[in-house]
Amino acid sequence: MKKRLFLTATAVAVAALGATSAMAQADTFKIGLILPLTGQQASTGKQIEAATRLYMAQNGVNVAGKKIELIVKDDGGIPDASKRIAQELVVNDKVNVLAGFGLTPIALAVAPIATQSKTPQVIMAAATSIITEASPYIIRTSFTIPQSAVAMADWAPKNGIKKVVTLVSDYGPGIDAEKFFKDRLTFNGGQVIESLRVPLRGPDFAPFLQKVRDIKPDALFVFVPSGAGAAVMKQFLERGMDKAGIKLIGTGDLTDDDQLNDMGDGALNVVTSHHYSAAHPSALNKKFVDAFEKANKGLRPNFMAVGGYDGMRVIYEALRATKGAGGGDALLAAMKGQIFESPRGPMFIDAQTRDVVHNMYLRKVEKKDGKLYNVEFDVIKDMKDPGKTR
Ligand code: PHB
Repeated sequence: MKKRLFLTATAVAVAALGATSAMAQADTFKIGLILPLTGQQASTGKQIEAATRLYMAQNGVNVAGKKIELIVKDDGGIPDASKRIAQELVVNDKVNVLAGFGLTPIALAVAPIATQSKTPQVIMAAATSIITEASPYIIRTSFTIPQSAVAMADWAPKNGIKKVVTLVSDYGPGIDAEKFFKDRLTFNGGQVIESLRVPLRGPDFAPFLQKVRDIKPDALFVFVPSGAGAAVMKQFLERGMDKAGIKLIGTGDLTDDDQLNDMGDGALNVVTSHHYSAAHPSALNKKFVDAFEKANKGLRPNFMAVGGYDGMRVIYEALRATKGAGGGDALLAAMKGQIFESPRGPMFIDAQTRDVVHNMYLRKVEKKDGKLYNVEFDVIKDMKDPGKTR
């Protein structure tokens, strides 16, 4: 009799435990954040993780009756690893949202998992135009390379740059940069006289830059992913290419805020086009930069950080709008069409394309308070992804 009572009590206790963990599950809203925290793209992972944690510290973790839980995983920048991690996050952790994605091949590798599991996939870094078409569950808060490339191809020929050599990393965003820059420059009466591609992994820029020096164009247009700009800048200057009269231009990935201040005065006056600068003159951005630096031992936020910060905003507001009900389709619907002020300026998630619409700024490297910054001097407002009109 006693034994039976004990067994029953144990069963009740176990059942109660089960109910508690099920309740905890139901009360938790999980964001699976997949980032390159090691390897060549580690600075992107570090920036985005710091930005998401800042957003949570500033906005709390209780939203619409749910407690937000961030699960951070390192994919080392390897697509196969990201795919396996995404699968585990969906199947085992039952995450409500997948986020991060430091490189285009990673975003593309995870897209089928988002589609099959109906889990929103928030792209905070990768920037090849095609990404949003890889799954109807993808939303992008980073930027698109054609936006930056076209902005530069409009500016350059109006500023004495007619003959250009392009130098890009040989994968998705680099091919986009090369194509969209060339098409637009040609349309504007300029000319790309040579197109060079360097490998994504461990590139040696030296032989390519030597070739550019021999060709002697008006300018060299560069796209390399965040983290690789400083190496290009160093070798460009070491070869005295600036002194030989070759201008250096590019998408803003080149003069990445994560590295810019360490590039030295040789970087002064380099003009790039991009959606974000840490020097963007708005009250909201000043607050963002100050808080980010304070929370991260003086680290300056770059465009990757802002993609992560805004991605969290989109997720939080979708959860709020759906009153905590969750559900991939409902969340996705609430992410589409969001419009808000970002540290980058005004920003909009186009409901049709699920891609970001925002300002593109022309910026020049200048010294402010003894530090190098990308100082904005012109703007193309509310630019959609030029790749979407193909
Ligand atoms: C990309 O892989 O899509 C990518 C990565 C880093 C960048 C831009 C694009 O700075």
